[in-house]
Amino acid sequence: MNPSSLSKLPLLLKPFLLSLFLSIFFLVFLATQCPLLRLKTALQTASNPPSSGASGLHIRGGYTSYNAYIERQLNKTLNPKLRKIWTTRDWDRKVKVFSRVFQSLKHRKLIFNESKALSIGARVGQEVAAMKVVGVSDAVGIDLVPYPPLVMKGDFHAQPFKNQTFDFEFSNVFDHALYPWNFVGEIERTLKSGGVCVLHVAVRRQTDKFSANDLYSVQPLLELFKESELLEVRKVDAFGLDTEVVFRKKKIKDF
Ligand SMILES: *[C@@H]1O[C@H](CO)[C@@H](O)[C@H](O)[C@H]1NC(C)=O
Ligand SMILES: *[C@@H]1O[C@H](CO)[C@@H](O)[C@H](O)[C@H]1NC(C)=O
Ligand SMILES: *[C@@H]1O[C@H](CO)[C@@H](O)[C@H](O)[C@H]1NC(C)=O
Repeated sequence: MNPSSLSKLPLLLKPFLLSLFLSIFFLVFLATQCPLLRLKTALQTASNPPSSGASGLHIRGGYTSYNAYIERQLNKTLNPKLRKIWTTRDWDRKVKVFSRVFQSLKHRKLIFNESKALSIGARVGQEVAAMKVVGVSDAVGIDLVPYPPLVMKGDFHAQPFKNQTFDFEFSNVFDHALYPWNFVGEIERTLKSGGVCVLHVAVRRQTDKFSANDLYSVQPLLELFKESELLEVRKVDAFGLDTEVVFRKKKIKDF
């Protein structure tokens, strides 16, 4: 190296450093646009529960027995005033919103006209009606109180269906589960392999007084869905629930 090239070095260094900064900035910007990274970031920021144990899932106490829990749930489901509202002025509004939800899931190829579909904790069946509106004709709901023909009697802790019955299951009552591991276990049992489960949940938000658990992040769901892979986590605005979580049951290997 001769002295003249040495003296030029700081001059060359400036544009070099500038372009280095710019490209790092650009790469970081690109990375934040990447869906997978966004998903990971969402998972990380949603962890660290404020008041529960490390798992991010808190089971509310106060039930002396499973029957006491069922009775309390029935109290809401059977409330004549609520049932009247659900089947009258609530009906069109809910069916409209849920039709949009299922239409969107259809566009994303998560539910199809031919899917055999289940709505869990269906109350009077607005979600089932919405599935039918978007063309999913083989759809049914379960709840503690039946509401024929859309909703049949069934406890989500012990679904009244054989293994591998459904292509698609939807629920927005995860927070009502006293035993979330049974709730999820039953979904994975009754889903066909490759079947899709969509949950609407409230993360880090108190739901209602009939809730049996509180969820502070989606992390506990990943642990509960042992036989499934996470496909999507996205924001929704669906009657107080803010997060849509989509799982696909893994394909079972044939021996
Ligand atoms: C059910 O609701 C009624 C009032 O609507 C109340 O008196 C009763 O104690 C409730 N039962 C349970 C098990 O919560
Ligand atoms: C699904 O069903 C809807 C409503 O019945 C119909 O309009 C649509 O064409 C069907 N789509 C497919 C792909 O068959
Ligand atoms: C149904 O699935 C459960 C859990 O996956 C399993 O323990 C049980 O043996 C299965 N029952 C039948 C009849 O295959």
